Amino acid sequence: MTAEKYSAVMALQRAHCSVRKYRDEPIDEALLTSLLKSAQCAASTSFNQGYSIVRVTDPDAREKIAAAAGGQQWVIDAPEFFVICADLLRSDHACRMNNLGEIEGYTEHFISAISDTAIFAQNLALAAESVGLGGVFIGGIRNDPRLIADTLALPRLVFPAFGFCLGWPAEPCETKPRLPLEVILHVDRYDAGDIDEQLRRYDETIADYYRSRSENRKQSTWTEQVAGALQKKTRDHMLDFMRGQGFLLK
Ligand SMILES: Cc1cc2nc3c(=O)[nH]c(=O)nc-3n(C[C@H](O)[C@H](O)[C@H](O)COP(=O)(O)O)c2cc1C
Repeated sequence: MTAEKYSAVMALQRAHCSVRKYRDEPIDEALLTSLLKSAQCAASTSFNQGYSIVRVTDPDAREKIAAAAGGQQWVIDAPEFFVICADLLRSDHACRMNNLGEIEGYTEHFISAISDTAIFAQNLALAAESVGLGGVFIGGIRNDPRLIADTLALPRLVFPAFGFCLGWPAEPCETKPRLPLEVILHVDRYDAGDIDEQLRRYDETIADYYRSRSENRKQSTWTEQVAGALQKKTRDHMLDFMRGQGFLLK
């Protein structure tokens, strides 16, 4: 077995945790600009750069969004809160400017925009962690995407994918053990192996983690949590909302 090789970036990635408690300290404007410019250097589908980010500074808007997200206090408390959007508005203009007609709501176009958005967002999170900041993504905003779109004046072809709270961590980070690499890594052919047995073993790892972490200890397994979360969050308003914004029409 060869020894694992580490870089400074990999060490940072291995130290990741979502941060929901922040010191009462602003983030310097020049640093914020620098983080956002660095995040923009992420790869993007056909160079579309299919995302936008809305910095939410208005306390009333923060309160509304926090409530819509299920009462997530960190949306209000974080020194910075952003809504990160998949955005095809500029692509639509580009098509029209070049006499190629309007964007017609193809599913493929949405997939490319949401891929760009997620990669941009992770680049932002990693840049932030590299200077000691911490954050958490907020998928809870999709509980009420209409409210988010109205509050932030999002036009057609802009989809609020998730929020992002950012600030200086108030507590040390505790990392959560990921699935064993061999469970997610396949070579040449997908090999499902004995999924149930793999998950039973991972449930034990995660149950140990939840029992022994310093805060918010609980009795829970990974499969329980995933099953509960997925079945609770069907958000069956989503397809109508997305079609109303001009996505997933074909
Ligand atoms: C797209 C996305 C949406 C998320 N939404 C929420 C959220 O609404 N509220 C929250 O507290 N955490 C949210 N999280 C954070 C996850 O719960 C967290 O990343 C996961 O439990 C793993 O923990 P870790 O990031 O500390 O390693 C979200 C993460 C992602 C990637």
